[in-house]
Amino acid sequence: MTEAVSYRLDGQVGIVTGGAGAIGRVLATGLAEAGADIVVGDLVSQHAGGDETARLVREQGRQALVVDVDVTDVPTIEALVQETVAAFGKVDWMVNCAGINIRKPVLEYTEGEWDQLVDVNLKGLFFCTQIVARQMATQGHGKIVNIASQLAVVAMPERSIYAITKAGVAHMAKAFAVELAPMGISVNAVGPTFVSTPLTTAMFEDPAFVNEYLPRIPAGRFGEPSDVLGAVQFLLSPAADLINGQLLVVDGGYTSW
Ligand SMILES: NC(=O)c1ccc[n+]([C@@H]2O[C@H](COP(=O)([O-])OP(=O)(O)OC[C@H]3O[C@@H](n4cnc5c(N)ncnc54)[C@H](O)[C@@H]3O)[C@@H](O)[C@H]2O)c1
Repeated sequence: MTEAVSYRLDGQVGIVTGGAGAIGRVLATGLAEAGADIVVGDLVSQHAGGDETARLVREQGRQALVVDVDVTDVPTIEALVQETVAAFGKVDWMVNCAGINIRKPVLEYTEGEWDQLVDVNLKGLFFCTQIVARQMATQGHGKIVNIASQLAVVAMPERSIYAITKAGVAHMAKAFAVELAPMGISVNAVGPTFVSTPLTTAMFEDPAFVNEYLPRIPAGRFGEPSDVLGAVQFLLSPAADLINGQLLVVDGGYTSW
């Protein structure tokens, strides 16, 4: 006898940080299509994209709320979770997609650039995970997916600090999982390869980059935001109820050799 599994999120409430950005918007919209109401958390005072993401969520027939959050500023993360609970009564899951990169040779980074990258990508995701998990602990359930990168597993020139932060995000999943699994909370990470977005267009149009890196992807193509959505939706869904502390790499085989 087979037992059916569900990949749906009907009736759930989720937060997507970085939800005004390229991948975050596709995640918010796709997860709404899967049945969830969505809170978009982003630097909306500096980034006009939050309202557009909310419009796309509502087009799926789901509710959307846009909250201004700076993941480097802990009180704003607390306010994000409080506003979500005030509006919807619960948080079933959170996807932390906020992230930045500064590309430079390893010998040239400044202390300020280290602080900036670590503050957003690592410290920011730690406190987003901690603060939403406190709410989830009171509920007795919750799922958190943090967006890492294939550079959590392998290095690449001129991305050293970024890669270090993403390796930290992957390990954070394990660190939280061992304490939070008994509370009904899962924390996993997703590690995409190079994903096609407005910020990577110039890179993808550079023949030197394409000739160097496309042959390293056995699947023969770069990633799309929908590839990231597939992995995130799976980890948030009932089908992944027993998966905890993992990094799911979405790389067409890049890190396999
Ligand atoms: N694009 C890629 O090739 C790729 C590959 C692997 C992983 N990723 C990761 O995916 C995530 C999304 O990347 P993207 O390509 O959509 O980039 P993006 O720049 O379009 O989106 C990032 C979002 O994060 C928000 N953000 C940045 N700092 C913030 C802060 N302090 N507080 C709140 N929000 C903040 C930005 O406003 C933006 O909306 C990032 O974590 C990135 O590292 C991207």
